[in-house]
Amino acid sequence: MTKQSIILGIESSCDETACAIVTENGDVLANVISSQASIHALNGGVVPEIAAREHLSAIRPVIAEALSQSGLSFAAIDGVAATGGPGLIGGVLVGTVTAKAIACASGCPYYAVNHLEGHALTPRFTHKLEFPYLLLLVSGGHTQLLSINSLGNYERYGTTLDDAAGEAFDKGAKILGLGYPGGPAIENAAKAGNPSAIKLPIPRQRYRDCHFSFSGLKTALANAASAHSKPLPVNDFAASLQSSISASLTMRSAIAMHQFKSSQTSNKKPAFVVAGGVAANSLIRAELKYLANSNGFEMVLPPLEYCTDNAAMIAWVGMEYHQIGQNTALDFAPKPRWPLDKNAMPPPGRGVRQ
Ligand code: KG4
Ligand code: ZN
Repeated sequence: MTKQSIILGIESSCDETACAIVTENGDVLANVISSQASIHALNGGVVPEIAAREHLSAIRPVIAEALSQSGLSFAAIDGVAATGGPGLIGGVLVGTVTAKAIACASGCPYYAVNHLEGHALTPRFTHKLEFPYLLLLVSGGHTQLLSINSLGNYERYGTTLDDAAGEAFDKGAKILGLGYPGGPAIENAAKAGNPSAIKLPIPRQRYRDCHFSFSGLKTALANAASAHSKPLPVNDFAASLQSSISASLTMRSAIAMHQFKSSQTSNKKPAFVVAGGVAANSLIRAELKYLANSNGFEMVLPPLEYCTDNAAMIAWVGMEYHQIGQNTALDFAPKPRWPLDKNAMPPPGRGVRQ
């Protein structure tokens, strides 16, 4: 039996310093994550300067732990991949410089990975999913619908005009005086709430496209909270917010499913993948699953540890490019913005997130 290729991956684009080691079969030999969430909770959100310093002190122990978990040394690694963007530039620099140094010292190729491509290709190693498929990426930084056609060929159907869905949860939780990160806090409070008690809008309900917008919803929540008599029925507010975000994700996904299906020629059952931290939300998962079933899609939900930010997904993208011999030059400069689909039409409005 020939030896499996092995790639070491590094993720450091937001508030997690992570290192993972994967094989070409998609086996994850190590998956180490050091989270800064408790540090950023003190400020109610990620502070880029603090995040960069934390990455700097965490990166070496995290890599050492991944090597120790896998029982491997650098000599056994066939390539090193690191998130090269998009993300907070300080953190991306830490990961990039570290990966380049390992590649130089070990004489193996280096792969600069698009963080979004990491999320997009996750079901390729968790479920051995074949191209093409439809992806809804819902995290704290991104809300996008994409057709994942083949390696390096991605068509963006829609993105957010302002805040991401996770940000809507986080900012909503702040308004309601719940903790950070806001998603789990809102979900928990919503369990005891009535989603119809407080009237909140469903963003962009009248538009027949795949773009999202959440900042108006945040303002509506803030206005409703300040107009309401005190003490606030926080559980009802949380349930209404969750229900509006879920309805928005479901409506835009329905449009994307239609678009995806009409672009396909094969009669294979299409797959709908949901990735990103917001996919942890049970209401959103249930509503998207119902939608997928009623539109003839197979719903694919990677295990949560690979849905949220992790380095296995980065190592895997490195592996896909390693297999076709496409490595990155060592003079690669990190990219704070790096759209997956560079031909995507700009969405209407301003403040566009890539
Ligand atoms: O993918 P992720 O771990 O990190 C990035 O942002 O890249 O996503 C984090 C986001 C946060 O905004 C958090 O509030 C949200 O995912 N989140 C949730 C839940 N768990 C995490 N949102 C709604 N419901 C949840 N249970
Ligand atoms: Zn992410």
